[in-house]
Amino acid sequence: MGTPEVRLRPARLGDVLSCVDVFYEASEELNARTGQPIMPRNPAGLTRLVEHLLRTDPELSFVADDGSGGIVGFGQAHRRGGTWFLAFLFVRPGHQGQRIGRRMLEACLRGGPIASAQQRPVALAVCIEAIQPVSTALYADFGMLPSVPIYALTGELKPDRTPPPEPRLVAVPFAELVAAGADALADEIDAVDRDAVGYAHQQDHALWTAIDRQGYLFREAAEGRVAGYGYVHRSGRIGPVAVVADAWLPEAIEHLMSSVPVPDAWLAFVPGPSAALVPLLRAGLRVDGPPALYCATGGGPAFSRYLPGNFAIV
Ligand SMILES: CC(C)(COP(=O)(O)OP(=O)(O)OC[C@H]1O[C@@H](n2cnc3c(N)ncnc32)[C@H](O)[C@@H]1OP(=O)(O)O)[C@@H](O)C(=O)NCCC(=O)NCCS
Repeated sequence: MGTPEVRLRPARLGDVLSCVDVFYEASEELNARTGQPIMPRNPAGLTRLVEHLLRTDPELSFVADDGSGGIVGFGQAHRRGGTWFLAFLFVRPGHQGQRIGRRMLEACLRGGPIASAQQRPVALAVCIEAIQPVSTALYADFGMLPSVPIYALTGELKPDRTPPPEPRLVAVPFAELVAAGADALADEIDAVDRDAVGYAHQQDHALWTAIDRQGYLFREAAEGRVAGYGYVHRSGRIGPVAVVADAWLPEAIEHLMSSVPVPDAWLAFVPGPSAALVPLLRAGLRVDGPPALYCATGGGPAFSRYLPGNFAIV
């Protein structure tokens, strides 16, 4: 009897813990092989994210089954507006290089952009690790070309910072605005998203709130116009943050940082063209390791004024 054939099938909620296990095994092996530090695991947060995508886009999640029920790989994508985005593609180290990744990617594409000519989205996109040649080549083969580096900035703020100038933005907690009318808040967030990200995606805002990121709407102090929104978690994670003009981004982030007790370390994913890159570096944060690369067939968010919250929902 030969080795059982690896078969793909749609993912189910019962597969989520296996997917999380595949993710950690594959990414830790990659980091060890390339001399990168192994990050602490956060299985609860990752489980939530994998489940979220399975619920919002069930037709775009696949697992690779080794023929005896063992999950050796998984792929998940989501569709938001005219964008198909690959959130996860991971294969256990012992099964890599056997075209399982390519097959899962094709399955995620068949479930979405190439399902029907009428539904074809305008863009395919993914974030990859810059240290990973295999995924760089694989995604480029489907037209997703490396375009924007996104840096993890971490650390503490310098103690001797000059006091910020008179605030030009007012930050209002989402919780207050929801009490006054959830639909009005959703409309305001959607307008910012359409402008900065390219599409509205309330389903993902529900996730940020569910995982305890504190959301704020920013208004211009003088005119009261909406200037953007942003999230911060008490652990120090900042994002997503989206504003309607580059000039608002540094101040929006200052508001977020001053709205939670000072954490052990801040963490923000900051694109190369971001209006916040230099201000955050001057404020004391440091570039942590090689960047992720946003790869796309074209277009994408306005990275000068948008900070993603993670690399799976950009
Ligand atoms: C990236 C990953 C999902 C790919 O899955 P896989 O099953 O190993 O890959 P496949 O065998 O389907 O395809 C890899 C392709 O890359 C090509 N490739 C491999 N090394 C390459 C290199 N250095 N340069 C260019 N192409 C390369 C292979 O030739 C193959 O192309 P082919 O199908 O035309 O022959 C898997 O290796 C993995 O999980 N890696 C660790 C975690 C990771 O980096 N995940 C992606 C996060 S963005």
